[in-house]
Amino acid sequence: MKKSKPSSKKSIKSRQGRIAPRQGTSSQKPKQRWIKFVFFSDNHGNMEDTSCTDALVSFMDRFNPDYRIHGGDGFDIKALRKGAEGKDVNDSLEEDIRQGIEFIKRTKPNVYLFGNHEDRLFKTMESSGSGIIRDYCKEIIDYIVSTLKDVGCKIIKPYHAEEGTFQLGPVVFCHGYSANQNSVKEHAIHYAPNGGACVIGHLHTIMQANAKRHKGVVGFCAGWLGKQRTAGYAKNHLNTSTWGNGWCYGWIKGKEWKILQAHKVGGRWVAPIDFDIE
Ligand SMILES: [Fe+2]
Repeated sequence: MKKSKPSSKKSIKSRQGRIAPRQGTSSQKPKQRWIKFVFFSDNHGNMEDTSCTDALVSFMDRFNPDYRIHGGDGFDIKALRKGAEGKDVNDSLEEDIRQGIEFIKRTKPNVYLFGNHEDRLFKTMESSGSGIIRDYCKEIIDYIVSTLKDVGCKIIKPYHAEEGTFQLGPVVFCHGYSANQNSVKEHAIHYAPNGGACVIGHLHTIMQANAKRHKGVVGFCAGWLGKQRTAGYAKNHLNTSTWGNGWCYGWIKGKEWKILQAHKVGGRWVAPIDFDIE
């Protein structure tokens, strides 16, 4: 069979591209710019505090981040909690799903990292003895994923300690895989590259922890976006006093990074967006 010849136009173009780069560009590195991101997490379906979402959406309109990273637990899925009983088991998931979906539509994440609460759907889908329950879980997962795709989310990661991370240069993002006093530090040591940072949700606490490692690593926890006093089964636990509403955001260029925590002070949101070290 005769091979078709590439068109002469194409071959000239590609030769020119290899042999004769535009003047002045051959020895210059492409100029890096600061990449902006926002990491928000843990709105927990119908436990969401919509006033936090209002603040987050208006912040993102002004900040105009390159990456809008949802850190997971966007749905609570109470009924499928291990050990759930009484009201939690019997309550419909309808409102939880409706509000979690509405949150995705408003915040338009382009990265979504599933949390342990969404993972209840995946676990139940794999393990339930009831075909109807397995089908229902699959339907909800499909609904969440198709909504994410509709808002332009191209990166969706499972709740998985190896596969569930997203990295931008020296900063690694994930939902969180342990919940104790040292978790923020522990995640930084585990995931952040030397001199970098790790940002998690999961703990609902606004926190920063510098960890001991060569060149240093820093952990951040973004807080959560739920209603502080109505957190269902969690309302009787002392550690809920450490919870706070907020999100993380920042700038990354090469190995450089700066991360800030947005939260309320005196009833007002504080989240400066000026960044001027050029
Ligand atoms: Fe979580």
